[in-house]
Amino acid sequence: MKVFLAVLLASLALVHGAIPRSRCAMQLRAGGLSANYNESIAHAIHSMTVQGLQLFNPRATEKNTIPTVNHNLHDKSGQKVLMYAPNDQLPSDYFDFTMNMIDKILAMIGKSDDGLGAHWSSTERIVHKFHMWDLWLRLQKEVREMKTKPSGSICKCVLDVESNGIFQAVQWIAAHYESGTPITLLDRPIPKLTDSETWAFWKNDLLHYYTPEALHDAAVYLHCATKDF
Ligand SMILES: *[C@@H]1O[C@H](CO)[C@@H](O)[C@H](O)[C@H]1NC(C)=O
Repeated sequence: MKVFLAVLLASLALVHGAIPRSRCAMQLRAGGLSANYNESIAHAIHSMTVQGLQLFNPRATEKNTIPTVNHNLHDKSGQKVLMYAPNDQLPSDYFDFTMNMIDKILAMIGKSDDGLGAHWSSTERIVHKFHMWDLWLRLQKEVREMKTKPSGSICKCVLDVESNGIFQAVQWIAAHYESGTPITLLDRPIPKLTDSETWAFWKNDLLHYYTPEALHDAAVYLHCATKDF
């Protein structure tokens, strides 16, 4: 009997190691995630930094497991996606966050580690960076106000990025940086941002992931990914 139990427990432990995909899909739906959670979460985290993570947990460091687009486009290893959000220290020559951020963005243009490739104009870069900070601040509020926090098993499933499609969607973004300015994952042409008409397009696209569903998806992921620092 004892041997039988030991074998049974050992085989259960084996099964438990890798959570079956279909069970996770059900868990995530039950946890209120949308059908497009891979894209809403990948969008929220693709350019995440330690400083961004500190909005969710001030103890955040580079010891995190958030997949991000590799800002070093000429990385010798050819790695397009990093398995962590890097430290992104701002310069401190100016007094306030905004001007220091603009300094950082413009000082990187044309350098090999500028993160966005050849296709982004200065204005588009500034918009992209501040849009991400705006979304992260909105998500900080979303996480704080989340009525029921995701369970341990939902967290396990949402953090299993190599199986649940999130890693693949971050890879999609990294690949599209090489040919354009992917501000959504809708895979449609995006005009160069040059005037009020093209800004109207950009504005609308940048608001695509501020819906209640997209905010909830990303809030669940970020809560799970940062709660144990
Ligand atoms: C996200 O998941 C949907 C549904 O499984 C899939 O159709 C889509 O291609 C995925 N998106 C990316 C960018 O991987």
